[in-house]
Amino acid sequence: MELRLTSDQASAEEQAAVDGILGMPDFQNSLEPEGHRQLLLPVLHALQARIGWLSAGALNYAAVRLDVPPAEVYAVASFYDLLRLRPTPSISLHVCDDIACKTRGADALCAEVEKSLGKEGAPCLGGKSVWFRSACLGLCDQGPVAYLRAAGETPKEWVIARATAESIVADVQDCTEGGEGRKESRPLLREFLPQFGESQLRLLRRVGHVEPASIEDYQKTEGYAALRRAMEMGPEAVVREVIESRLLGRGGAAFPAGKKWEAVLRQRRADSVHYVVCNADESEPGTFKDRVFLKGDPFAVLEGLTIAGFAVGAKKGYIYIRGEYPESFRIVSQAVETARTHHFLGERVLGRDFSFDIEVRRGAGAYICGEETALFNSIEGYRGEPRNKPPFPTQSGLFRRPTVVNNVETLVNIPEIILRGGAAYERIGTPQSAGYRLFCLSGHVKKPGTFEVPFGITLRQLIELAGGVAGTGRLQAVLLGGAAGSFVSPKELDTPLTFEGVRAIGASLGSGVVMLFDDSVDLREILARIARFFHHESCGQCVPCRVGTIRQEEILARLIEKKPNGSVKNEIALLKEAAQAMRDASICGLGQTAPTAVLSAIERWSLFS
Ligand SMILES: Cc1cc2nc3c(=O)[nH]c(=O)nc-3n(C[C@H](O)[C@H](O)[C@H](O)COP(=O)(O)O)c2cc1C
Ligand code: SF4
Repeated sequence: MELRLTSDQASAEEQAAVDGILGMPDFQNSLEPEGHRQLLLPVLHALQARIGWLSAGALNYAAVRLDVPPAEVYAVASFYDLLRLRPTPSISLHVCDDIACKTRGADALCAEVEKSLGKEGAPCLGGKSVWFRSACLGLCDQGPVAYLRAAGETPKEWVIARATAESIVADVQDCTEGGEGRKESRPLLREFLPQFGESQLRLLRRVGHVEPASIEDYQKTEGYAALRRAMEMGPEAVVREVIESRLLGRGGAAFPAGKKWEAVLRQRRADSVHYVVCNADESEPGTFKDRVFLKGDPFAVLEGLTIAGFAVGAKKGYIYIRGEYPESFRIVSQAVETARTHHFLGERVLGRDFSFDIEVRRGAGAYICGEETALFNSIEGYRGEPRNKPPFPTQSGLFRRPTVVNNVETLVNIPEIILRGGAAYERIGTPQSAGYRLFCLSGHVKKPGTFEVPFGITLRQLIELAGGVAGTGRLQAVLLGGAAGSFVSPKELDTPLTFEGVRAIGASLGSGVVMLFDDSVDLREILARIARFFHHESCGQCVPCRVGTIRQEEILARLIEKKPNGSVKNEIALLKEAAQAMRDASICGLGQTAPTAVLSAIERWSLFS
């Protein structure tokens, strides 16, 4: 369809979807000082949810209402995978075929789905539905999985865990006939916490035990005690505790949390505007730990973010949740409302001279939006493209104001640090890796799920904790840290899972991914899927990444097909050359790490000889 933004008209339904967002109290309150443009993504989400796709007329209407140039509205709308710019059936199914789900039969599942529903991307079931293959949906512990959404006046969306062709087709059909679909349940949450009920758990101790929506349950289990304590201590003392704890960020870059907080606090003036942002984009393949808190202990996330806001002088916080986590979005949004009602958010929090509120935002299917500056652009209503650094977020972050951005898990550690003290926290783990760490165990492992351990455990011990190797029982490789991480071999199982321990073998902990592959897996296929992921997710802004990720995918394809350009040796040299250019000259971590897993595998195994 040709897009003619100036002449097309929005239907009454489309206008209602846009106007509905502009009238919502949450967004009305957020207009100053940020302005209207920042409502662009919520508006596009509303249109997508109501109509199932974004017509030229709808984009045009959004442009007029938000006072954003139509070309820029189109540029933003075309950035996200979950937004459709062509007429699309109202029911869409996304079946994960990423690396963890592959170990759980995703390829066979997609083949079965194709038999029942027809070709990927083609309308099926009387033109009402369509299905697509998808990158990781963040439920690797429950794979294979699919995500289903139905547009309409009452839009529906849910995740199908442990999917079979029968369960998927039944859900799609049910949806086509107007049914409600299934909901993820709390027992399912417990089932994927193999340590459930163990008394040593700190971060995970409430998950599965408390009703996530109940602020009373939360308060009965030490909830909000840390915020009260923080307010008694004052901002400077809170920041000192966080520095003393030596907490390093759990989102992947391992930056000291306290240093970030201190940098923003230092810029506090009577009239300065600061922000705190919780990064809940969680799109790194193999990562699902943050979801456990968002769904199972949402007030802990709110409390951590509120303490951050108090410590750095912010009046506003944002939680940015990946688009494919509909249930997490509902639960966290509800928790924010409840916290407001109980004066843990809003004007004069707990009757003190501190006002703070939280807005919950949704991504729309773009891995790059987990990169902190891309996330800011996404919230502000621009394409989710990373910014050059410096300036760093602590100097110029969200809305170009000093900003602290932290991962969900990082923030959940904060109440622990405030209640037990930074010095006590610092003694947990090892001298260079303090505290607790969550690991996401998936692939060929007997008990997939989220594990909490103090830093220091070895990879072998963690795998034993998770019941050992599943599948054939013979371990071929472990992917550490996610698609941006590294493959390690069974010879490296005695590596301690600390920042320094994995660095010594040239790997990284990344976002805590530990994905096992037994010896039945063709690792070359896994590398090809990783390369496809990075090619697809590159925002295309800088040449080394835009071209390098394509070249990497092409070279791997030629090697797998045994049709190298010249010799295998030449192809591998080319792969390394492209990798060097990506590492040296990409703007952001996506381009810099896109070749890491591929090269780590080539270094350890003779995959193409
Ligand atoms: C491509 C890319 C994707 C990222 N995705 C996430 C993510 O989903 N969640 C996250 O917390 N950090 C992610 N990060 C890291 C963030 O940029 C940032 O370092 C982090 O949110 C800071 O929080 P922390 O210090 O608490 O780890 C990503 C980085 C890159 C380069
Ligand atoms: S490295 Fe890749 S993802 Fe990052 S800014 Fe450049 S093109 Fe975009």
